[in-house]
Amino acid sequence: MDRHPFKFGKLAIGVHFTNREKERKRLRANITSGVNTILISPRRYGKSSLVQQVAEEMGKDRRTRFAQVDLFEVRNEREMLERITSAVISATSSTLEDRLRDLKRFVQTIVPQVGIGSDPTQELTVGLSWEDVERSRHELLELPEKLAKAKKIQLVLCIDEFQNIGHFPDPKATQKLLRAAWQRQQHVTHLLYGSKRHMMLDIFTKSNMPFYKFGDLLFLERIARPDWVKYITDRFRKTKKKIGPALANAIAGTMEDHPYSVQMLANATWQHTSGTATQAALDQGLEDLMDQYTILYQRIVDDLTTPQLRYLEAMSDGVERFTTSEVLARYEFGSSALVGRIRTALEKKDILDHQGTHTIWLDPLFRLWLENRFWHKPKRQFLS
Ligand SMILES: Nc1ncnc2c1ncn2[C@@H]1O[C@H](COP(=O)(O)OP(=O)(O)OP(=O)(O)O)[C@@H](O)[C@H]1O
Ligand SMILES: [Mg+2]
Repeated sequence: MDRHPFKFGKLAIGVHFTNREKERKRLRANITSGVNTILISPRRYGKSSLVQQVAEEMGKDRRTRFAQVDLFEVRNEREMLERITSAVISATSSTLEDRLRDLKRFVQTIVPQVGIGSDPTQELTVGLSWEDVERSRHELLELPEKLAKAKKIQLVLCIDEFQNIGHFPDPKATQKLLRAAWQRQQHVTHLLYGSKRHMMLDIFTKSNMPFYKFGDLLFLERIARPDWVKYITDRFRKTKKKIGPALANAIAGTMEDHPYSVQMLANATWQHTSGTATQAALDQGLEDLMDQYTILYQRIVDDLTTPQLRYLEAMSDGVERFTTSEVLARYEFGSSALVGRIRTALEKKDILDHQGTHTIWLDPLFRLWLENRFWHKPKRQFLS
């Protein structure tokens, strides 16, 4: 029996991966036809899970290989090339011996430092000096293409948190370099993803930027309600517990269909269920989560200014137009210019996301916590 029917905080693949049929199809089609893809969504929507799921599905025939790189905390070109080189070498050959041989054969001008542990199948980590990069930049950038061609495979180079190249010392120069190398490659498809929408859009949609029109832009949305209901009821059933569709619907609704949060609340409800789930189990599960997150949320609140908190309260009250004189006066915003600054600050802090005229809370549990524990408002009925 499955002891942990819900998955959160880790990649959700296999039985834990629900829906995303359209996105999987589009990704597979892009990869098959060599079209680059740019995948964008807020944090914890399932970018990594989607990529991993597609990698598992497509990687079975061994003609398509996925090299995965994360630019989280990578701050310069040298570190980026280290990670790309390590990932590409590891993805294209399976033993340490082969990896070392490939590295020597395809990057002749450098003697990289290589990290090797006791496990012979473990990944290779390549260390490069700045001199290596200066001397062999071109060779390193061509390595994925050369390897893929030599091994007669299609390589998918997946780069997570790609917007981080925007923080490199000379971001535009790096982008020019990458674009020039990548657009010539025939055996490598690029899958670039990230969670900072504005930075990603700056890189890929501005006509004066090197990556303008580099590939197919895919925005990942939350998961649809009917898919959640099916997933939650299935997962309960698999563990010999029951939940009705209305309550499964309430779990997803309470968390506004946010992938990570729905899985977390489903798990908390499941913990309080011995036979058939009840509203009381859901309520108790939600209380547990709010308890768990209180320290974290208190810290976030401590870091907010009074006008920022008032803005969130107005959001919670259902205000949609913030610059009418009535709203400016009621929430003491002062001027509409200040409202603009508050919006930008809340977006930078990853609390809200403004999509055109529509604004969403990035963490639905934080909103519930503010309403229940901070403002002590009456309990919100979930939106079905
Ligand atoms: N297709 C899916 N089906 C069910 N749950 C999912 C799915 N995708 C994601 N989730 C849930 O969301 C969580 C976060 O997924 P994942 O780490 O893939 O998101 P991410 O967008 O890469 O996040 P981050 O920006 O933090 O890296 C998973 O642990 C899981 O609980
Ligand atoms: Mg991720």
